[in-house]
Amino acid sequence: MTDQLIIFDTTLRDGEQSPGASMTRDEKLRIARQLERLKVDVIEAGFPASSNGDFEAVQAIANAIKDSTVCGLSRANDRDISRAADALAGAARARIHTFIATSPLHMEKKLRMTPEQVLEQAKLAVRFARNKVADVEFSPEDGYRSDVDFLCRVLEAVIAEGATTINVPDTVGYAVPELYGHFIKTLRERIPNSDKAIWSVHCHNDLGMAVANSLAGVKIGGARQVECTINGLGERAGNCSLEEIVMAVKTRKDYFGLELNIDTQHIVAASRMVSQTTGFVVQPNKAVVGANAFAHASGIHQDGVLKARDTYEIMRAEDVGWTANKIVLGKLSGRNAFKQRLQDLGVSMDSEADLNAAFLRFKELADRKAEIFDEDILALVSAEQQSNVDEQFSFVSLAQHSETGEQPKARIVFTMHGKEVVGESGGNGPVDASLKAIESLVKSGAEMVLYSVNAISGSTESQGEVTVRLQNAGRVVNGVGADPDIVVASAKAYLGALNKLHSQTERVAAQG
Ligand code: KIV
Ligand code: ZN
Repeated sequence: MTDQLIIFDTTLRDGEQSPGASMTRDEKLRIARQLERLKVDVIEAGFPASSNGDFEAVQAIANAIKDSTVCGLSRANDRDISRAADALAGAARARIHTFIATSPLHMEKKLRMTPEQVLEQAKLAVRFARNKVADVEFSPEDGYRSDVDFLCRVLEAVIAEGATTINVPDTVGYAVPELYGHFIKTLRERIPNSDKAIWSVHCHNDLGMAVANSLAGVKIGGARQVECTINGLGERAGNCSLEEIVMAVKTRKDYFGLELNIDTQHIVAASRMVSQTTGFVVQPNKAVVGANAFAHASGIHQDGVLKARDTYEIMRAEDVGWTANKIVLGKLSGRNAFKQRLQDLGVSMDSEADLNAAFLRFKELADRKAEIFDEDILALVSAEQQSNVDEQFSFVSLAQHSETGEQPKARIVFTMHGKEVVGESGGNGPVDASLKAIESLVKSGAEMVLYSVNAISGSTESQGEVTVRLQNAGRVVNGVGADPDIVVASAKAYLGALNKLHSQTERVAAQG
């Protein structure tokens, strides 16, 4: 048994399945580059057969990433597998991940297939995939709720067909650590050819135990791959969180005794990038990447940490990429300083034109805000990336009036399909009035299912970062906007969400 733990990141596939978290090709590529910097072993870049957009995203990632294996998901059929293989053709190292459900419930109600048919299809799929690439992962979907005898038959058969990784998903987050760990152990002990494959865990967080279950799968079960996402992003309560599993294994190396390739100093930048791209805000008390994760508020703790850091700290903030909230740039900083700071933050721009556009936004921000923090820079880079996406609506300017006892009013100028338009409306408050002013012209009819504001660098002088989640005709999208004026940030977020609503294509659900 190897002492290396493979980190398989599925932020761009399972994470993206979270309603509203869908990303464009360029956004996915940017995150993939950050994952490569983080040195994740495998990047699951998407589900190529689900839509042309996802095919192109996986293709772009496969062509760009050199140091990590790039993986594409496919259902267990020839068409999906061929699509995945085509999308991965340019990869330095390619993996096809094929899956089919094996639990009685899923086979009967969802697939309407008998167990024997599922077994046959799983074998055919792995055989077909192995003819395309050497690295094939197989997942029995809802594996944890499957009959163990049947699961053993399926897994033994797919290993015999050449599956190199066997992943055991707890698709619905039903497992508890000890039981899940023993489940993996039992499978490995009972399947005669189990040593021919690497065993992997894939846990969802519905009961808040995804990380604990994954660790038990590793410790008790002997799994040597963990599937996880940045910030624990994912459908419902999300997936096992990359930063938590990595820091648990690293901090408690005395217990787990495992090596990791991850360069942990890029964790915080990856977390921010994913949060700002998807609009899924990280809760302040989230382990490792939450704003409070290393903050010591109580006097006793502060005193202890000042005397000896390890009195209350088990990890060093700088080891995961936290830098103190320091003023990094200002109005007088030039393009080179800006470029250097982007490099320090691990952000690479795709072209000089993108860099120039981001620098222009930086100058505009620096005119309005004397102190520019790392968080501001990351937010404006995100905004720049968003604005590269099929922009049908774009913010120009906003005036609003609110006074106690009077109904707030807003007048907003924005471009709609390349033409400047002016919308006016009243509302419950300035934000409501501004968004209604946009809607009075766009008439999207979308329902707002989430609105949240977050101060990027923690004070009233900071930029407000707003997330707006819209739902229309079964689609859910997030828009993110940042500005020192939260009403403007809200308008930008709303327009960003409308852009996504207009550009998003239909896709097939991986677990539908
Ligand atoms: O949770 C799950 O079962 C999955 C599979 C597609 C691997 O994400
Ligand atoms: Zn999953």
